[in-house]
Amino acid sequence: MTQTAVYTEQQFIADLREVFATHRDSVQQAHNIAKLMRRAFDNGWPENSEKFGDGNGTYEIYRDAEYGHPGPGFVVLAYRQGPQELKRPAPHDHGVCWVAYGVKSGGNTQTRYAYRHDSADAEMPAFEVVEVMEQGAGDVHYILPGEIHSVQGSPSDETIYCRITSMDLDKVQRHRYDVESGRSAIFSSAMTPDP
Ligand SMILES: [Fe+2]
Repeated sequence: MTQTAVYTEQQFIADLREVFATHRDSVQQAHNIAKLMRRAFDNGWPENSEKFGDGNGTYEIYRDAEYGHPGPGFVVLAYRQGPQELKRPAPHDHGVCWVAYGVKSGGNTQTRYAYRHDSADAEMPAFEVVEVMEQGAGDVHYILPGEIHSVQGSPSDETIYCRITSMDLDKVQRHRYDVESGRSAIFSSAMTPDP
């Protein structure tokens, strides 16, 4: 009897490592890793992971010692969260790192921001929303080094989502942005602002 091919977590992680081993460019890395996350979702991940749980929380699935961008240490995290209060947006970047965000079930709203420079060079740049993406089941997007976004969890549904960060963001200096003024401040955290 032939066995059905299953894309295991072990193979998924081996493929993630292979992407870093093959590509030095952050866009190629993030794009290919987003594809692999969609494939893992199609094969029952992360619910089938031994590292994933039934309670709400953040589950660290994998941490690499060798590969990452720009330095070693990419991290695979999976989240289970209940309906979320609608919050004030908390725009942030990921410093020199990129992040792939994928929704397995439920939904997240991703908002991208950018500075827009007026032709009058004496003016401060405006801080604007450039894209709002409703992420539903199976949707994976990535935020590149320097790009700015905020995440709002579904106010009505339980959401299972995953995040692959190209390094451990606890060790990376990055910025949070005030949505009204566009002013930024430096911080280093994997979890705040959310996330
Ligand atoms: Fe983020």
